[in-house]
Amino acid sequence: MKRSIIALAFAVLLFPLQSMGQAKLKVGLMLPYSGTYAALGDAIEKGFRLYLAEQGGRIAGREVEFVKLDDESDPAKATDNANKLVKRDNVDVLVGTVHSGVAMAMAKVAKDNGTLLIIPNAGAVAVTGPMCAENIFRSSFSNWQPGYAMGEVAAKRGAKKVVTITWKYAAGDESVGGFKESFEKAGGQVVKELSLPFPNVEFQPLLTEIAAIKPDAVYTFFAGGGAVKFVKDYAAAGLKDKIPLYGAGFITDGTLEAQGADAQGLLTTLHYGDGLDVPKDKTFRAAYAKAYGAQPDVYAVQGYDAAQMLAIGLNAAGGDVSKKAEIAKAIVAAKIDSPRGTFTIGANHNPVQDMYLRQVVGKDNKVIGVATPALADPGRGCKM
Ligand code: BEZ
Repeated sequence: MKRSIIALAFAVLLFPLQSMGQAKLKVGLMLPYSGTYAALGDAIEKGFRLYLAEQGGRIAGREVEFVKLDDESDPAKATDNANKLVKRDNVDVLVGTVHSGVAMAMAKVAKDNGTLLIIPNAGAVAVTGPMCAENIFRSSFSNWQPGYAMGEVAAKRGAKKVVTITWKYAAGDESVGGFKESFEKAGGQVVKELSLPFPNVEFQPLLTEIAAIKPDAVYTFFAGGGAVKFVKDYAAAGLKDKIPLYGAGFITDGTLEAQGADAQGLLTTLHYGDGLDVPKDKTFRAAYAKAYGAQPDVYAVQGYDAAQMLAIGLNAAGGDVSKKAEIAKAIVAAKIDSPRGTFTIGANHNPVQDMYLRQVVGKDNKVIGVATPALADPGRGCKM
């Protein structure tokens, strides 16, 4: 009798400790699962889950539970959606998203509630600029980075007058901003900035305008379904062989199957590509192909690295998401072993990374050089 009472007392004492040690880590995945960016959201989730599977389904010893939400790439719904995950579902960490406008709303919610946020794509400059915070990180890029790298390439290739064309929202504006900054610094001139609202794909009137202006080259930012249509329409308008089309790499990443011959030869800049001589990339690609029967793209890499960054931070904090300073210190100190090549996280919590120059060859965005090595986003306005 006495022994069983003692055993019971032990059990009561031990139970909370055990449940504490095993409390699941709730990850709120807020991504587009519908609309023009649906494939991007899917690839990010696959990459994230692949890293997790490699860790036996646990991060910092905690089993991971997902709460998924389709953000539809709709900034108007973003604050409510992020609040649902944080306040209703009580997630420990937010992971998302693709669209810059949605990410800015997520960053505000994360900041207001002190929730850990890892952005696996959206390049909104504000998030690692004026909105930067101890608990907000990006595993991808800032919109400025690929644009800046391509501005240097276009100038070196002799372009003097360039027309830009993009969607009118933060990602397009900031991508063009990065391009313009380095291109004009090198003596070039952006003679016309064309745009249409996201996610419209009525490109024809703008292509007619480009044909009339006859610039030396065109710089573009589109992604997902819109990128597929733009590249096809550019070729159908007879412009492909007349005016070189340069882009941030999203124009041809994850899209080549659908773009086919119309994308052949295009030059883009991005922090990932095909044919990298990076051992981690080889193992990553083999594992991804085995798990999903498909080749990964840049979005899958960013999802994989978002999970890696979460693990780096939480391992240093003993799995405790409230230890923000420990998490930030570990992530900023880390050399992240990514399929893109090793990269670091700058003081503004954005990747410092090589920007590759890629050329479309068959179904590959073949890396043909490094356009700008170890490029850091300037983090303008970030005070931490
Ligand atoms: C963005 O909205 O930041 C974005 C979307 C797709 C690809 C790259 C950037």
